[in-house]
Amino acid sequence: MDTLPTLVLGNVTLQAGRVVDITLAGGRVAHAGAGQGTTEYINCSGYLVVPAAIDMHVHMRGGTQSAKEDWKSGSMSALAGGVTVVVDQPNTLPSIDTPQRLGDRVCDAQVNSLCHFAINSSVTAKTPLEEMWQAGAMAFGETFFAPSSYGDVIGDAHLSLAMDRIHAVDGLLTIHAEEVSKTPPDTGLLSHDQVRSPEGEFLAVKAVQRLNKRGCRLHFCHLSTKRSIDAASGSVEVTPHHLFLSLEDFENTDAFGKVNPPLRNEKERKQLFSRWDRIDIIASDHAPHTRAEKTGDFSRAPSGIPGVETMMPLLLARVIEGKISLQSVIEKTSYKPAEVLGIPRAGFSVGDRADFAIYPKIPGPITTEMLHSKCDWTPFEGHMSLFPTTVIMGGKIVYQDGEFFTPEPHWFSGKGLIKNTGTTWP
Ligand code: DOR
Repeated sequence: MDTLPTLVLGNVTLQAGRVVDITLAGGRVAHAGAGQGTTEYINCSGYLVVPAAIDMHVHMRGGTQSAKEDWKSGSMSALAGGVTVVVDQPNTLPSIDTPQRLGDRVCDAQVNSLCHFAINSSVTAKTPLEEMWQAGAMAFGETFFAPSSYGDVIGDAHLSLAMDRIHAVDGLLTIHAEEVSKTPPDTGLLSHDQVRSPEGEFLAVKAVQRLNKRGCRLHFCHLSTKRSIDAASGSVEVTPHHLFLSLEDFENTDAFGKVNPPLRNEKERKQLFSRWDRIDIIASDHAPHTRAEKTGDFSRAPSGIPGVETMMPLLLARVIEGKISLQSVIEKTSYKPAEVLGIPRAGFSVGDRADFAIYPKIPGPITTEMLHSKCDWTPFEGHMSLFPTTVIMGGKIVYQDGEFFTPEPHWFSGKGLIKNTGTTWP
């Protein structure tokens, strides 16, 4: 990468209120102060300049599931929503459970993704965990302690063993903690909330922690209740759909609201939001399914909600409303995921990764037409949002006013491969 300045972001307002020019060079922040010479200059006066998000929980699909999403459409969604790094989950068909499949997945993303990416390893009784780590898996999971739309469930004994092995390589286990009961029949959103109950999620969190005998690093995916959050001792992830949607927003048999863990009632949603300060990471669990799949019989419809493109816009609209602070959103969507995963952080300091999104300060309603996911629907239609006008990745403009420019996406591998190859970034 060249080290001459590629871009100056002029008149950027920092948290402390200081206004600076940020000079970008070699994919990093080179200087914060008065702008240094370059032909490319963006005047950011009147805009929010935000370190771009890392969405550490997306399902980019592809292969036989390309009608739902693929790397190209999923990464376009990410960039247009202010996300420059996505962490892909391994419950693809077939799942990412051998070094060969991990390698193939990386190749697919290297050719087709517009944004930076990392790929996780699946965790089953048969996965060669140490080999996956050496091959560059970013983390292990989402690990299915309960079944979901796709992905193999792991039993208690195997999970306990897997945690020991992941601990031994100093890896991170990400866990989908739920319990699924056989009754009542899963025929609508209300029964879905009972079959995969708040109590079941809480018990699963406790059980996973009991099985973690040696202290493997744990990350709890998409917790949906305050009680589960309070019980969790690892890092805690919450999704925008659990923060902003509740059962009351849907007809009972509307499968567009079907997701695991389920949407809860409005009271539970508000309690979840009340734990904002404890939530480490907001991630979308972007899980696109086609309209046709979601329109059929409720009990047969797959679970999952798309969200990589709407995550930052929804959060930043709340910032403008004064409900949450901009700093807390940056922490939960950019700094903390970088820290948990070991990815160089994007930010305003010299040496930080030069990935930013620039947002106007006037919120507007979300419409499906403005989004890029192949699935072509959103449960957030009409919700207020701020979408970025410009997104910068590696110090260069990769998205502006609806247009995408040639990006240079990077594969962020896990520490297992970095240790072997000495590869750092950039
Ligand atoms: O609702 C969900 N759908 N939850 C998950 O954990 C997986 C996801 C999917 O892959 O569709």
